[in-house]
Order: sequence, then structure tokens, then C-alpha cells
Amino acid sequence: DDFFATVAEKSDGAALRGDYSKIDAQYVVKQDWDAYTPEQHALWRRLYQRQAKLIPGRACDVFIESLELLNIGDGIPRFVDSSDLLFKATGWTLVAVPGLVPDHTFFEHLANRRFPVTVWLRDPEEFDYIVEPDVFHDFFGHVPLLFNPIFADHLQEYGKGALKAMKLDGLAMLARLYWYTVEFGLIQSPEGLRVYGAGILSSGGEIEHCLTSPASLRLPFDVERVMRTLYKIDSYQETYFVIDDFQQLFNDTAPDFTPMYERLKALQPLPANTLLPGETNLALK
Ligand code: PHE
Ligand code: FE
Repeated sequence: DDFFATVAEKSDGAALRGDYSKIDAQYVVKQDWDAYTPEQHALWRRLYQRQAKLIPGRACDVFIESLELLNIGDGIPRFVDSSDLLFKATGWTLVAVPGLVPDHTFFEHLANRRFPVTVWLRDPEEFDYIVEPDVFHDFFGHVPLLFNPIFADHLQEYGKGALKAMKLDGLAMLARLYWYTVEFGLIQSPEGLRVYGAGILSSGGEIEHCLTSPASLRLPFDVERVMRTLYKIDSYQETYFVIDDFQQLFNDTAPDFTPMYERLKALQPLPANTLLPGETNLALK
């Protein structure tokens, strides 16, 4: 599986992978596309091809359509080219970063419709498993979804909301929301459940597991329930939350979270494999 840290897992001061010697004030760097080796492009192709085979019937429509438009199967993409396409579609741009960036910086980028993409690619030994997000996870997993206007708007609102949550001591809760949606979210479609979470879409194993395994729960998306639920960072998720569509995600996260943070702080968080009385584990076909 694809194990990686996100904003929630990195602790300040921990050594991060990546070259931070040339960052600007927003942690942005040049991608330096010419520095990628033929071996790295070949590894990208192998990663791409494995995922591309798994995508039909599992990924949501916007992911499949955008992936085709992006045309990134031949090697590590040039961020500026894809950024131009993306900007035309939803007004988002891509910025290159050395790796994980501080929470505040990450959310500032999102709040300004900039998606930070890590420049380095995993080593061949890490084909199935990485600890920190690399260019394959960040680009292949996240960028296609940003072509959906509602999802794109949602992610900007998330960035603004996270800057606000930092002041309200609500970031742990909001990180769970990100985890269970942007990283590990499932969505309904007329043909059945589909994946929109980047952590699943860039993973060779979880993309099948999340849709079929009786070992995990699939619960209807509920903001408060999600923000109460702990998550796994070193195994497949034990619970997935399912949205009806991106409009639901946008609408349900639009209200002011300030009172919800206060309510949730008084409650114990729930273990990742919790099924509360009265909850429905969505049936699989
Ligand atoms: N509505 C949230 C708040 O008021 C902000 C937010 C928007 C959070 C979208 C997540 C996603 O704090
Ligand atoms: Fe991610």
C-alpha cells in the first residue's frame, strides 16, 4: 500500500526528504525537469501503467477524463504544461515544492488555488510503499480531481478553513476531514462506488481493497462523524466515507465549523474501525 504522511503527520523539526536549499518564502522551487534521469521517467511509466490498468470501473469519472486530458503516461510531467491546462479549466495552478511544507504554507497555497506538487520521485524499491508523498502521489493522485470545478472550489475553501482552524485549535479535526475525503474518499456513481481520494488512486493495492474488501467499513459521509474519526497511516483504511457527489462535499463543509470544533473537543475521538449503533455499513454489490 501507499503509506505517506500528510499535513497531519509531519512534526516540525523532523528531517524531511527533499532539497530545501532553494525554496522561496512559500517553499516553492523550480521543478528542474531536465534533471530527471531516464531511469526516473521509466519508473514513472511503470507506476503509471500499473495504476492505469486499475482505474477503469474504480476511479470516478472526472479522474479518468482528466487523466486522459493531462496525457502524463510517458514520463514525469512538466508541471508548467499541466498547470496551464488546469488553469484554463478551474483557475488552479501547480507549484513545485521540495516535499512536505509547513501546515500554514500548505493551506496558504490551497487558499490561493495553488496546488503544491513534490518534485522528487520515489526510489524503485519504494514502488509499492512510500513514507512521504512523492511526485507520483501528488501529481497522479491529486491533480486530475482539480479539473472538477466543485471539487476545486471545495479545496480552496478547505485551505481557507484550515487557516481559520489553526487559530481555533481545530486542525486535528480538519485533518481528519482531509484524510477521509481528499486522500481516501469514495463517491457514489450510477454504476456503483468509485474512488476520488488521491491516497487510494496512487496506491496499487488499496484501490481494489477499498471497493471490495469486507474487512473495511463504508459509511455515508457525515462531516461531524468524519472529524471525530481517527485514521490509519500505516495500513489500508478501516473505514471509508462515501459522498453522493462533490456538491454534497462542498455544501456540507460550507457552514461555520467554529461551534462544531467546540462540540467535538468535548468528545473522545472514535477508533478507525468504529460502527456506532444505528450506522449503516453500505452494502457492496
Ligand atoms: N466551513 C469551514 C469553517 O467555517 C471551512 C471549511 C470549508 C472547511 C471547506 C473544510 C472544507 O471553518
Ligand atoms: Fe496527498
